[in-house]
Amino acid sequence: MIILVGYATIEGQTRKIAEAVAASIEAAGDRALLFDISSGGEYAIGHPEAVILCAPVHAARYPAAFVNFVRQEAPWLRGVPTAFVSVSLLIRSEFDEERDEARHFPQGLFDETGWKPRHVHHAAGALRYTEYDFFKRWIIRRMAEYEKAPTDVSRDHEFTDWQALADFVGAFLTSAKG
Ligand SMILES: Cc1cc2nc3c(=O)[nH]c(=O)nc-3n(C[C@H](O)[C@H](O)[C@H](O)COP(=O)(O)O)c2cc1C
Repeated sequence: MIILVGYATIEGQTRKIAEAVAASIEAAGDRALLFDISSGGEYAIGHPEAVILCAPVHAARYPAAFVNFVRQEAPWLRGVPTAFVSVSLLIRSEFDEERDEARHFPQGLFDETGWKPRHVHHAAGALRYTEYDFFKRWIIRRMAEYEKAPTDVSRDHEFTDWQALADFVGAFLTSAKG
């Protein structure tokens, strides 16, 4: 099976997640086409047999280029098995209402674009303090303090559960072939 793995990223964690998705697909004996949606280029084949899209939440939104891509491609996305991986930090919050908020982010995307994937996975992202500029580091550190997330800005912190992601891809492949 040929599976398009399309992603958008701002700080790189979703690229890493999309690469792990592609690696799981290839390990299962299928073929993954990794495509950076924000590059604005064309993906290599016209009609992949299945699609997994991955995007991060920044300031309560998915990147505009990603939303535009999904809106534009929704007509054919509706015709193949599809899955969505939503990357956020709130999904690992210790507060119920914050986790609920993160769980609801995809619904806004689906309402806005008309795409409704059968499978949705929530992956916790990363805090890349060492790569933020001063202003961003200050804002994110304050957010982290409130969330009781790590506030040590001298290093990066990754929260992605790689095994849960691989399990999700495995279940998607089984269902897509079924
Ligand atoms: C400026 C900024 C704003 C963010 N806003 C949110 C947010 O509103 N909700 C959330 O759950 N996570 C938020 N995050 C966390 C990101 O989703 C997380 O860092 C993710 O790993 C980023 O993915 P990327 O590296 O692919 O861009 C934000 C991160 C940054 C740097």
